[in-house]
Amino acid sequence: MTDFFDAVDSRRSIRAFLPDPVPAEVLDRCLDAALKAPSTSNLQPWRFVLLQSPEARAGAVKVCLGQAPAASAPLLVALVCAPDSWRRNRDEVVRILAARGDLRKGLDTYYNRLIPLVYLHGPLNLLGWWKPAATWLTSFFRPFPTLLTRTGVRVGAQKTTALAAATFMLALRAEGFDSCPMEGFDNRRAAKLLGLKGEEEVCMFLAVGKRAPDGIRFERALLPRDWTVQTI
Ligand SMILES: Cc1cc2nc3c(=O)[nH]c(=O)nc-3n(C[C@H](O)[C@H](O)[C@H](O)COP(=O)(O)O)c2cc1C
Repeated sequence: MTDFFDAVDSRRSIRAFLPDPVPAEVLDRCLDAALKAPSTSNLQPWRFVLLQSPEARAGAVKVCLGQAPAASAPLLVALVCAPDSWRRNRDEVVRILAARGDLRKGLDTYYNRLIPLVYLHGPLNLLGWWKPAATWLTSFFRPFPTLLTRTGVRVGAQKTTALAAATFMLALRAEGFDSCPMEGFDNRRAAKLLGLKGEEEVCMFLAVGKRAPDGIRFERALLPRDWTVQTI
């Protein structure tokens, strides 16, 4: 097990991989870690799709525009996010909490009253017209949560799914493995390959494996710290 800061420091986006497969137990540990990533209201809108059949893999390489990391990695993973999964996932989280006797009154109100108010945008995004105005007006009188439009729900699902991706990549590194996140892919073909339904979309593809000696294409180039860290 690598020290956390070593894992962070040595994680790089790898563009050339060795052919060695990723052992199933390593993959499982890293997925278990990723599934513990924080998510908005614990709604876990993500799905890791392991592209293990030769057809799925070949299809994914094409969908990823034949990019070098996709072509050389022994494993490709599609990280799918589902903005419209909030109701199903909310029901399941509530069921788990209730079964354990953990659904206190505040949580019950949160999941059954506040969450629908924040997430519902109605058919054809009809509430999407009213919600920004209601949020803006009410916030003059008291701090008020942003009532999400369809775009807001989508951004939240993408944002939260990216945290699962980051956790997965760091877990892989801690296990001595590597990755490359990829958003350079054909969205329409990705949806077809993965049989995506409803509002599901690919957050990113991940190439996974062990780095080849020439896997890092350039040294890290970090922006000046006073651009990226501020104190107010
Ligand atoms: C959301 C996201 C999408 C990315 N898409 C690609 C991609 O399509 N192809 C690629 O080679 N690298 C991709 N990268 C990797 C970035 O180029 C890389 O993270 C950045 O240059 C910093 O380098 P490092 O990850 O090695 O520290 C992506 C990274 C992120 C976070």
